[in-house]
Amino acid sequence: MDKKINIIGFTGSLRRNSYNKMALNAAKELLPEGVTLEIEDLSSIPFFNEDIEAEGIPKAVADFKNKIAEADAILISTPEYNYSIPPVLKNALDWASRGIDTPVNGKPLAIMSASPSMLGGARVQYHLRQVCVGLNLMVLNKPEVFITYANKKFDEEGKLIDDYTKNVITKLVQALVDKVKDSKQ
Ligand SMILES: Cc1cc2nc3c(=O)[nH]c(=O)nc-3n(C[C@H](O)[C@H](O)[C@H](O)COP(=O)(O)O)c2cc1C
Repeated sequence: MDKKINIIGFTGSLRRNSYNKMALNAAKELLPEGVTLEIEDLSSIPFFNEDIEAEGIPKAVADFKNKIAEADAILISTPEYNYSIPPVLKNALDWASRGIDTPVNGKPLAIMSASPSMLGGARVQYHLRQVCVGLNLMVLNKPEVFITYANKKFDEEGKLIDDYTKNVITKLVQALVDKVKDSKQ
């Protein structure tokens, strides 16, 4: 029997009713058989500071890095802040990029973004892809998932109610799983 595939998911939004959190929760419902998605909350990760790093890696950071190391792949759903990456997400990636045994090196990654705007966070995805080059993350190019008009795509309980979006998230997660399987052959 195939080994189970475990994906770690996170977002740069700390907002309680975040559309990007809702998108990650939706992905959890759309996984292929034998795949799990564990969603991590980045709120306890401190601001990166080389002085803190020199004193010892904070527990929240060490836990985050361990979870990435143990995961087969990463799924990020990010908001766009002023055309770019929210600081919470960039900060977590900066921590994860440190050390010789960085867990992000060579890890498959899929990106999606949700925004109430008509572009659905298209611009943040290209900034994030640029950062991922430095981290040697293996980012999927396609399918691209831009959740446009996100305020209309989830119901009051935070459930995804848009069939097109469900379909494209299903394809994205399947492509990520295929990438994991290819990289293990
Ligand atoms: C500081 C800030 C900057 C923002 N800049 C953008 C932007 O450049 N493009 C965009 O589509 N939305 C922008 N927004 C609106 C976000 O898309 C919106 O708040 C969204 O709901 C955030 O994602 P979340 O629901 O996952 O928290 C910005 C919001 C904040 C707080």
